Amino acid sequence: MDQVEFSGGLMHIKDHSSGHLSQETVKKLIQKSQEAKQQAYCPYSNFRVGAALLTLDNCVITGCNVENACYNLGACAERNAISKAVSEGYRSFKAIAIASDLKEKFISPCGGCRQFIREFGLNCEVYLSKPDGSYLKMTVDELLPVSFGPEELSMKKVFDIPEY
Ligand code: THU
Repeated sequence: MDQVEFSGGLMHIKDHSSGHLSQETVKKLIQKSQEAKQQAYCPYSNFRVGAALLTLDNCVITGCNVENACYNLGACAERNAISKAVSEGYRSFKAIAIASDLKEKFISPCGGCRQFIREFGLNCEVYLSKPDGSYLKMTVDELLPVSFGPEELSMKKVFDIPEY
């Protein structure tokens, strides 16, 4: 049995699986994304989203969407979770679970969030969930095929612009 623990203000899931996550861990991660959804600040869309990231060392970092009266400043749940994680020193992720209130559709991350997830590697498993806890597991490459990532920036070019 996997356990969720709290230490130093952080949640930990004791994930004993090697390689792919156990069903128990996935269930717990989805549960954490559903809890994060409850914090959503979405007075304009009334569309709550929560996300829970599992770091390489089994910490869980959550995020929710935070909207703004200046509509275009709103931020998605996945991006908020990733930004929180990175600002706490985490850059390697095993998985991210996403939750919404959609009854009949697995919540699908927006294009910008797909790119945001991709920034930190192609190995993060992405769990799109429904409120009943059912989920669809996808890879970053399935969500964002032929993606552009940090590696591209250092690839061979036909021309190097002079340094400023
Ligand atoms: N939203 C997310 O938080 N994540 C997504 O991947 C899709 C959309 C939020 C943004 C906005 O606050 C609300 O859902 C409606 O678009």
